Amino acid sequence: MSQDALIIFDTTLRDGEQSPGASMTRDEKLRIAHLLEKLRVDVIEAGFPAASPGDFEAVRAVARAVKDSRVCGLTRARAEDIDRAAEALKDAVAPRIHTFIATSSIHMQHKLRMSPDQVVEHAVAAIRHARNYTDDVEFSAEDAGRSEIDFLCRVIEAAIDAGARTINIPDTVGYAIPEQFGATIATLLERVPNADKAVFSVHCHNDLGLAVANSLAAVLNGARQVECTINALGERAGNASLEEIVMAVRTRQDIFPVETRIDATQIVPCSRLVSNVTGFPVQPNKAIVGANAFAHESGIHQDGVLKHRDTYEIMRAEDVGWSANRMVLGKHSGRNALRSRLLELGIEFETAAELDEVFARFKDLADKKHDIFDEDLQALVSEAAPEASDRYRLKFLRVCSETGTTPHAEVHLEVDGEALSGSADGGGPVDASFQAVESMVNSGTELLLYSVNNITSGTDAQGEVTVRLSRAGRIVNGQGADTDIVIASVKAYLNALNRLTVPPARAHPQHDGV
Ligand code: KIV
Ligand code: ZN
Repeated sequence: MSQDALIIFDTTLRDGEQSPGASMTRDEKLRIAHLLEKLRVDVIEAGFPAASPGDFEAVRAVARAVKDSRVCGLTRARAEDIDRAAEALKDAVAPRIHTFIATSSIHMQHKLRMSPDQVVEHAVAAIRHARNYTDDVEFSAEDAGRSEIDFLCRVIEAAIDAGARTINIPDTVGYAIPEQFGATIATLLERVPNADKAVFSVHCHNDLGLAVANSLAAVLNGARQVECTINALGERAGNASLEEIVMAVRTRQDIFPVETRIDATQIVPCSRLVSNVTGFPVQPNKAIVGANAFAHESGIHQDGVLKHRDTYEIMRAEDVGWSANRMVLGKHSGRNALRSRLLELGIEFETAAELDEVFARFKDLADKKHDIFDEDLQALVSEAAPEASDRYRLKFLRVCSETGTTPHAEVHLEVDGEALSGSADGGGPVDASFQAVESMVNSGTELLLYSVNNITSGTDAQGEVTVRLSRAGRIVNGQGADTDIVIASVKAYLNALNRLTVPPARAHPQHDGV
């Protein structure tokens, strides 16, 4: 059976970034984009350039750096958004402009306050405008999952006539059910008269836990592009998981008449990097990339796998990039060894001072930890990355925690250059440390999440802590890593406070009208 190409459109850097607390800096996006290119995704949606100057710069940097994947920018159906995206993408080898407008009655009436005719007019005008910049224009009918099929057919036909070469059918609110969503794709392909002039794509959200199932049903019914994200990151409950889509199609070639060009051995490294950059840990039982995904606990399973792998394994761990932690560097490794290993991980520095900073941290870590793995290096680079704000710095921490006494912490900070110190008791050493910090900064934040993960295995592993804080409706994640988890926790807390000091100043693509 000859297989069609299934286009993998990764939107980790755009929809993924819309998860509360997951916003990424330009350099973080660049690091992920390098790895997505190595993963061989066909399209990288790098952001929404009209959102803010920072988003614009990030899309431009990705457009300049990536050579082997198309680079895409999202726009509302507005000329000024499209001009901004075209400017950000102008140095890309293969730029794509992705424009969208909502097509469901509920969105047209209550969000856009437009009639269906006006929506068609706006879609057509936006696509024509985008075509002045590139042939590669994608159109999304936002909330297609709840749109009337007759209107969907009408708007899609007009979009293709106006020059859209990819038509995306998003299930924006994650409402669809696989059988019905698959039937919608089949109907559109059958009823839209010029459907053969475009690639049909899907973009499914996971509110009912069905994003991957819906995407795969769409593929079985003729969709040839899937929009997805690493670790299923995305708005609310997330998007369809790239790793699950790719491995389902690859493992069940008897069912799916498609193949991707993904290099699956890069899946786990990508997953780790995205988790590290965003501070969203991967649940242990997550398919493909969870720590337990290939672990066989029960005696019967272990026995079966040892006798014949295929008894309980449908995929091989090494095929998706799980390998035993690789010792890459140690105490005696020099600056050049560090630089070349980082280059292999897709991490480059613009200035020698940045490399010096990471090297100094590397030496510190090598004093505490014998073997340094790739994951440790990723965490070091994240930590050394200049924050938009460096208002709060940790200078000293002492914690006393022993059986039968109340844990107590003493913390010294530098806040806006001024030395401060504070101390507090707490329910545990982390609680005491956070309270000591609060006794000085009085941040008025609420702690929404605190999580610790070991970056590699072994008791000398670095702990990576994520702290999620909210203040006045704004949510940020902070991260910190250290072989001492109390220090890692305070670093993460200060990192989140630093992020909160920078005003958000970015527009959300889907929250207002056109
Ligand atoms: O979920 C959605 O509808 C989107 C579109 C902008 C493609 O993210
Ligand atoms: Zn979306």
